[in-house]
Amino acid sequence: MKSVESVQPSQGRSVDSDTVLATFDLVVRYGAVVALDGVSIHVRKGEMVALIGPNGAGKSTLLNTLSGINRPASGRIVRKGKLAHVPEGRQVFPDLTVEDNLCLGAYRGGSRNPAPMYELFPQLEKLRYRRAGGLSGGEQQMVAICRALMANPDVIAVDELSQGLAPLVVSDIARHLVELNKQHGTAVLLVEQNAQLALNITSRAYVIENGHIGLEGRSSDLLRNPAVRAAYLGGVR
Ligand SMILES: Nc1ncnc2c1ncn2[C@@H]1O[C@H](COP(=O)(O)OP(=O)(O)OP(=O)(O)O)[C@@H](O)[C@H]1O
Ligand SMILES: [Mg+2]
Repeated sequence: MKSVESVQPSQGRSVDSDTVLATFDLVVRYGAVVALDGVSIHVRKGEMVALIGPNGAGKSTLLNTLSGINRPASGRIVRKGKLAHVPEGRQVFPDLTVEDNLCLGAYRGGSRNPAPMYELFPQLEKLRYRRAGGLSGGEQQMVAICRALMANPDVIAVDELSQGLAPLVVSDIARHLVELNKQHGTAVLLVEQNAQLALNITSRAYVIENGHIGLEGRSSDLLRNPAVRAAYLGGVR
């Protein structure tokens, strides 16, 4: 979990007052590989936004750059308020208890009281003294999300919510994210291979392909878009 708290001064282009996170023409390279090639996105206060795209498109690179793990070669990031990042593969501390994992999430601010997390994910309370490494994938995903939420972020970026999880577990966790968004107004940036799920629970979405934003718009419109349906929704009607 990475938590970033910074406001970077606007240089040239201004952002709306209700924007919590934005990138402008972001370019990120790994040596000769250009992983992001001029990516501009924004997330508004309390908004749920999806980022979908094929393997290798640059989704994790974008999240890692937003949270400060990667450095952009050029472009600009504006963060207003606090961003918490649930990385791909969850990365809980396997030898710590659930509760210790949660408390570590508050290291950059937020309350060290995990009780609100047990309200959000009641399943975690009975697991609080268990070693996180011994939990199921779904339980570990809940721990990773709650650890990020312990910092009391304005926006949470989740990389591959559904990775390796059974569909019922995924819909349960997705429902909790929607609940969190409704009750606390936490904005969500959701990277997800399951485009149907991502577009169903968000209001706006970006489609990233080969380091570019190929399409963006309302999630409900993208669900009906023939190109999106053919590429990401199995051509279903
Ligand atoms: N550490 C790295 N070194 C070199 N190239 C990398 C590195 N990490 C990612 N890449 C490359 O950057 C591009 C974007 O990768 P990224 O992991 O951001 O994609 P992704 O959209 O998250 O894919 P996935 O859906 O498989 O998680 C890919 O071509 C990938 O091979
Ligand atoms: Mg990825």
